Amino acid sequence: MIPVSLAHAPLLAAIHAAVFAGSEAWSSEAIAAQLRLPGTFGFLAEEGGMILARVVADEAEILTLAVAPKARGKNLGRGLLCAAMAEAARRGAKSMALEVAKANERANALYRALGFVPVGQRLRYYADGSDAWVMRVALTSAPVCATKAE
Ligand SMILES: CC(C)(COP(=O)(O)OP(=O)(O)OC[C@H]1O[C@@H](n2cnc3c(N)ncnc32)[C@H](O)[C@@H]1OP(=O)(O)O)[C@@H](O)C(=O)NCCC(=O)NCCS
Repeated sequence: MIPVSLAHAPLLAAIHAAVFAGSEAWSSEAIAAQLRLPGTFGFLAEEGGMILARVVADEAEILTLAVAPKARGKNLGRGLLCAAMAEAARRGAKSMALEVAKANERANALYRALGFVPVGQRLRYYADGSDAWVMRVALTSAPVCATKAE
């Protein structure tokens, strides 16, 4: 997984556009703006995946995770998430949180496999009126990635 810089913003936006339709897709400018915020970092999988995350104090948050349809099922999502978890821990985060649509079975399966558990929900969180789980994992003891990443 390649740590991203501002120069990667157009490539990350292209991957995001391949995954998220219309207004849900983040533009290159939007991604660059995120990357300029303190504590924000990301990784690129050259085969067609990207993740952005942020650490504030001792908490990390996944901002977005996207693997292009043709690149799915090859552990890229797992690898990107593991890279972000390791980097967040390196930056001092003790836990990592994210929101995921309840109906997104694939993403839910990935997050649960890496130790995330639901800690709350946000009703009508998405533009289409669907609900989200808030999920969290402790980063202090996360051996899951060490055995199955890459
Ligand atoms: C969710 C997403 C990132 C997963 O990426 P991926 O590279 O296909 O995932 P991986 O190959 O790393 O698979 C990781 C886990 O996902 C789950 N998974 C993979 N393929 C699956 C499938 N066909 N059905 C259900 N779960 C599946 C499994 O739990 C798998 O773990 P395993 O290999 O131990 O079985 C990708 O599907 C995606 O970008 N989806 C659209 C955007 C999205 O939902 N982003 C997250 C929003 S919160």
